[in-house]
Amino acid sequence: MTGPAPPARRRPRPDSRGPRPNRPAQRRAADPARRAAYDLLRAVEERDAYANLTLPALLRERGLAGRDAAFATELGYGTLRATGTLDAILARCADRPLDALDPEVLAALRLGTYQLLRTRVPAHAAVSATVDLAPRRAAGFVNAVLRRVARQGWDSWVSTIAPPLAADPLGHLAVRYAHPKWVAAAFHDALGGDLAETEAALAADDRRPETHLVARPGRISRDRLAALSGGEPGPWSPYAVRLSGGGDPGALAPVRDGRAGVQDEGSQLTALALAAVPLDGPDRTWLDLCAGPGGKATLLGCLAAGPAGVAEAAAPIRVLAVEKAAHRARLVAAATGGLPVDVIQADGVVPAWRPGSFDRALLDAPCTGLGALRRRPEARWRRRESDLPRLTRLQRSLLRSALAAARPGGVIAYVVCSPHPAETREVLSDVLADGTADQLDARPLFPGVPDLDDGPQVQLWPHRHGTDAMFCALLLRR
Ligand SMILES: C[S@@+](CC[C@H](N)C(=O)[O-])C[C@H]1O[C@@H](n2cnc3c(N)ncnc32)[C@H](O)[C@@H]1O
Repeated sequence: MTGPAPPARRRPRPDSRGPRPNRPAQRRAADPARRAAYDLLRAVEERDAYANLTLPALLRERGLAGRDAAFATELGYGTLRATGTLDAILARCADRPLDALDPEVLAALRLGTYQLLRTRVPAHAAVSATVDLAPRRAAGFVNAVLRRVARQGWDSWVSTIAPPLAADPLGHLAVRYAHPKWVAAAFHDALGGDLAETEAALAADDRRPETHLVARPGRISRDRLAALSGGEPGPWSPYAVRLSGGGDPGALAPVRDGRAGVQDEGSQLTALALAAVPLDGPDRTWLDLCAGPGGKATLLGCLAAGPAGVAEAAAPIRVLAVEKAAHRARLVAAATGGLPVDVIQADGVVPAWRPGSFDRALLDAPCTGLGALRRRPEARWRRRESDLPRLTRLQRSLLRSALAAARPGGVIAYVVCSPHPAETREVLSDVLADGTADQLDARPLFPGVPDLDDGPQVQLWPHRHGTDAMFCALLLRR
């Protein structure tokens, strides 16, 4: 194999159950942390749920906190991240194809394998706790498969199932760091073919990310937010606070009342870069072409409102926030209430505005999200390389629309949360070939941020900057 295959898809079959145990299983009620992790896996598989939205709700509902919550998170998110490699191991240990197993059995096996190979849980506890979780009828099967898994450690399994490093370095790293190979190849390409740095980038996706907050300008100072949240000021955005501990940021008073929000520091930097480009001529109309759920629109709205949170009478700035999906447009409206932001539900490629009418335009385009894999544990296995043509076509259309919306001399930020070259430099070079815009050197608009390579665009990275892998290019309309 050349990289972990996508996880086995659900294919329930009536005859797919594991053998009945040949003696009555000694089963206890599964412990609550493992039960929560198991239920998370089931929700992601069965309902296509987002893990980062589902798990906090599960923990709250079941009253899990402290060590139990941390253990459930480690097991649930860890298993989701590693699923492709766990399945490749399980395929060597089960006597039938994984897609022929009941989904409940497969979820238990993944969870057990993760505990055996990636945590310090003693093997006997990992096996017996997993048997407790699995459907009763499959207890013997689960027990037998996990005992086979436990015969080797993670490194040994990687050597068994991955292609040799020397023969197929990306295939090997993809298995070791549990990424689809096409994702590893995209990182490698974006990093100029540097294998050691590709390994660092893949490894960073498995480290627990810090939560980043934005102290919304005019509403709360960063120092006050840091004091209230127990976080540390972010290194580059004047509004960022980084929280290293766990916990639910949504429970913080400034987040609940909208003075602050949860927003990656890299995301903040892209909106700030757009707002900071020096412009000749007027600077009164800003556009956010893909605004939902409203993180950047809110930051832009706060900047537009001015330092005191009140638009300056001499040069009031208004932001038009456009979002195609109705429910996301409602989120933008809720987030930007009280700010000089008008929200419309519209397709960004079908202009509902006069061409050439905006001084600044942000296109934070729909993308694969490969830049935020550490925050979305299941995403790497859900995305398919075949998603790219549809997305990159849309990105090109939206970028052309953003350029047409800007006035001559106006500035456009093209932003994606992905380092995939097809979504970054290829979209950009195609659209720049139209001759309607010139690219600015974006690096000076990210003051103090190190390791920005040769420009003119900026690519942030989790392993370099501790931010999501945001891409930002700044274009000046001819
Ligand atoms: C990457 S997200 C934007 C994130 C947002 N800027 C923020 O910071 O919260 C992309 C958004 O574009 C929206 N979208 C997709 N196609 C669109 C289109 N043709 N026109 C406008 N919005 C679109 C999606 O619904 C999604 O909300």
